[in-house]
Amino acid sequence: MGEQEYHLPVLLQETIELLDINPSGIYVDATFGGGGHSRAVLEQLGEKGRLIVFDQDEDAYRNRIIDDRVTFVQQNFRHLQRFLKLHKAEQVDGILADLGVSSHQFDTAERGFSTRFEGDLDMRMDTRTDFTAAQLLATYSEARLQLIFQEYGEVTNAKTLAQTIVKQRKTHPMRTITAFKSVIQPIVKGNPQKYFAQVFQALRIAVNDELGALKDLLEQSANVLKPGGRLAIITFHSLEDRMVKNFMKTGSFDEAPEDPFAKEVPPKVFKLITKKPVTASEAELKRNGRSRSAKLRVAEKLI
Ligand SMILES: C[S@@+](CC[C@H](N)C(=O)[O-])C[C@H]1O[C@@H](n2cnc3c(N)ncnc32)[C@H](O)[C@@H]1O
Repeated sequence: MGEQEYHLPVLLQETIELLDINPSGIYVDATFGGGGHSRAVLEQLGEKGRLIVFDQDEDAYRNRIIDDRVTFVQQNFRHLQRFLKLHKAEQVDGILADLGVSSHQFDTAERGFSTRFEGDLDMRMDTRTDFTAAQLLATYSEARLQLIFQEYGEVTNAKTLAQTIVKQRKTHPMRTITAFKSVIQPIVKGNPQKYFAQVFQALRIAVNDELGALKDLLEQSANVLKPGGRLAIITFHSLEDRMVKNFMKTGSFDEAPEDPFAKEVPPKVFKLITKKPVTASEAELKRNGRSRSAKLRVAEKLI
């Protein structure tokens, strides 16, 4: 399959420029997808450069780049540090991640990510795992469902939605996209397409523990980047962007120390390369609707 068909990369030029690539450095693309960003990194790398790519998806692996400089790790990027060690790349010059699902995943009916198709309510990025969206709907408590729809989907009637699911699931199993949509149809608020998109986004984030994985990736990035190495993250959701922004600012997820008289100010871990997130240009917005909500932040490791 052609690279463009698989996935059109967002903020490509901007990401590559801000990574400030050293031709003989070691780079990580944590979200290979269709390899658009990876190919652009490779163009900047010389013979001695290395690119280690992660993607937990089987289809991304099948679509991998065959090049002596590239190592493909078909694993969740939350295990970044462990696999870098395994591949003898304990310290790296740059890491990039372009979060979420690829157009290929989204447009493949059987994967269950899109509201447009009929298929099983699956939504696993890694099909070797066994927890699907259907299982989530069948087992999670009402309170947990409400929180997921509220937080990850910004669904305005999350409480009613969670109540409806819990009430209906005893008699109406929601194993497919159509079955699920017909159960929640009576409580759809506003534009149905937008409503379903928000609900599906929330389920996808929860099924793949996307925020947990991002937290692990960020923490480990701080450990594996060389001083002067750069971290570039593209997000598509305000919760993700907030996590990235705060992490780049403070270098950790630990709470700030409570003692206001504490003399020891922890040393800064990152210098911000982008003070504000980079967003898509008019031209890119026209070319690629998916770039609408993309935000790129870049930071440089200091110590
Ligand atoms: C938006 S696409 C990346 C597209 C890519 N930059 C390109 O130019 O084609 C995101 C990819 O990251 C993968 N992915 C998302 N979260 C992941 C995780 N926690 N671990 C490993 N891969 C992940 C998805 O399977 C998907 O293929």
